Amino acid sequence: MTASLPLAGELAVVTGALGRLGPIWIEGLLDAGARVAALDRPGSAASGPFAAVRARFDDSRLKTFECDITQRHDVTSARDRVVAEMGVPKVLVNNAGVDQPPDSGTSRFTIEDMPVEMFRRMVDVNLVGTFQVTQIFGALMTAHGGGSIVNIGSLYASVSPDQRFYNHFPGDPPFLKVPAYGASKAGVVNMSRYFATMWGRQGVRVNTLSPGGVLGAQDADFKRKYSERVPLGRLAEAADLKGPLVFLASNASSYVTGHELRVDGGFTAW
Ligand SMILES: NC(=O)c1ccc[n+]([C@@H]2O[C@H](COP(=O)([O-])OP(=O)(O)OC[C@H]3O[C@@H](n4cnc5c(N)ncnc54)[C@H](O)[C@@H]3O)[C@@H](O)[C@H]2O)c1
Repeated sequence: MTASLPLAGELAVVTGALGRLGPIWIEGLLDAGARVAALDRPGSAASGPFAAVRARFDDSRLKTFECDITQRHDVTSARDRVVAEMGVPKVLVNNAGVDQPPDSGTSRFTIEDMPVEMFRRMVDVNLVGTFQVTQIFGALMTAHGGGSIVNIGSLYASVSPDQRFYNHFPGDPPFLKVPAYGASKAGVVNMSRYFATMWGRQGVRVNTLSPGGVLGAQDADFKRKYSERVPLGRLAEAADLKGPLVFLASNASSYVTGHELRVDGGFTAW
């Protein structure tokens, strides 16, 4: 491993590793010299992008561990297995999260009829789960010389979704981008500040990285409407996200804590 790489030899833990963005963060960390413990819910299938990263790196650099972040026992047991098999992490990326995109097939409701249980479930993963992983892995980092925690937020932590991006989808009631998503992510931004102030003296920095919409399998109408609203004129791509993550994870940001780094092409500047 080249010692000049920003994360040479460091161990990073990434939750929600097997989905769309997990492999982007993981590849950025691996290419920056880190080893990675990749955590995801028991039974989750690896996405194509994760399989592609897996093919590039063997077990000495990248290992997977089962962990549902809403289950405390899962998190403590994942911590113990990671330490036993890979060592004490210096970096934690709290990426696991749930959303309800238009193609998710979940039932639709008007805002007045939306079941409170739907709201609760999203907060339970995105906010309470992130709290729990931060507590358990962060305590390890405070006891072993510090590190960097990067919580993945969203542009919807700062602004309400523009429902007009979705009004071309057929259906009654119309698709609604749900309120719990942004509310839970706004909670993550503020909770990151809390831990930043709590653990600064123990050498643990805590920041939020808030991506804008990331290019995937979205339909053409959505992509056009969304991109028109972005000062940089497009959705984010993998390469846009890796640099900011490595910056926050490494000593390049040694005097940055309690910060929200928005990687949204300027969406929230308007
Ligand atoms: N994709 C985007 O455009 C976008 C934009 C802004 C923010 N984000 C945020 O980035 C993160 C990753 O998003 P994504 O697009 O990769 O989503 P995704 O659905 O593709 O992947 C999420 C991963 O989290 C895992 N997960 C869900 N619940 C879990 C739990 N209880 N315990 C452990 N793992 C769990 C899933 O199994 C999945 O592998 C999320 O926090 C999301 O809110 C995504």
